[in-house]
Amino acid sequence: VGHIDDVQELRKEKPTTIPERFVRNRAERPEPMVLSSSRDIPVINFSKLIKGNKDEQYDEVSKLRTACEDWGFFQVVNHEIDLSLLEGIEKVAKDFFMLPLEEKKKYPMLPGTVQGYGQAFVFSEDQKLDWCNMFALGLEPHSIRIPKLWPKKPAGLSETVEVYSREIRKLCESLLKYIAMTLDLKGDVFEEMFGTAVQAVRMNYYPPCPRPDLVLGLSPHSDGSALTVLQQVKGGSVGLQILKDNTWVPVQPIPNALVINIGDTIEVLTNGRYKSVEHRAVTHREIDRLSIVTFYAPSYEVELGPMPEMVDENNPCKYRRYNHGEYSKHYVTNKLQGKKTLEFAK
Ligand code: SIN
Ligand code: FE2
Repeated sequence: VGHIDDVQELRKEKPTTIPERFVRNRAERPEPMVLSSSRDIPVINFSKLIKGNKDEQYDEVSKLRTACEDWGFFQVVNHEIDLSLLEGIEKVAKDFFMLPLEEKKKYPMLPGTVQGYGQAFVFSEDQKLDWCNMFALGLEPHSIRIPKLWPKKPAGLSETVEVYSREIRKLCESLLKYIAMTLDLKGDVFEEMFGTAVQAVRMNYYPPCPRPDLVLGLSPHSDGSALTVLQQVKGGSVGLQILKDNTWVPVQPIPNALVINIGDTIEVLTNGRYKSVEHRAVTHREIDRLSIVTFYAPSYEVELGPMPEMVDENNPCKYRRYNHGEYSKHYVTNKLQGKKTLEFAK
């Protein structure tokens, strides 16, 4: 990331025009938000799911099924993760992005990699850039960790990331059990298939942008994970949008809720019954935004393909079998471009 490509530095110069590299072609620019067409994504009450009475559990599992089938996105409330952990990660993330550029550049995201500070998924000079700074770390298994990319500042970042990520991992494991139930599958089917799951965290910082109508905070994409957990930091702008019936629907943050989305792995395993939904982020003229995203995916050794239970004469097999490590490599070495990366599995 050169100086000029760092959106926080750009912002400091209080530009009135946007560098060409960020200006999207007309078709890609975000249209002004049409409030009348916006609907809210489903909300799942996690504590009812895990410890409600029989009826409550049944209702919540039904809601979860609809959420996965019709939306691919939902918010989880009462997730039982300590608020102090959500606030803790929020604070270290904020403090990290506010460090001087020289400090953050000690942890550079090298081209073609997705760990460290910078902009991921940039491969050519003529590719448009997102109005976003990223900082990402691989967490599990330990073999994917790059210790020199773990920041010394702000104090406590590493410890906070560790504790937070352990809790998010448990939430993913639990949600996958219930997602299996919505498909009438054994609760541990995903856990058994995934082996030691791969987990990574990415913090996205979107500074205010003088021309939100011309840029994107994050290019449209689907996630290469099985599940993604997104924390939208309090006080930020509404930035996340999902593509639903050909319309970009904004995700209204619910305080302390976590946003979950189905990734490409689950779309393939369910033979397309559950969709990995395309999403993007937009920016705001005055308000910045910070999101903390956890990717949870199978071990790289795992061979994936539609589960036999998901294929029959009415649902012919839509995807081939492939190695998840190869899929991940494919994902991180291509630009974000809607659902195009999933074509690898066809
Ligand atoms: C993402 O898709 O990785 C994050 C989008 C967001 O910041 O809400
Ligand atoms: Fe995403």
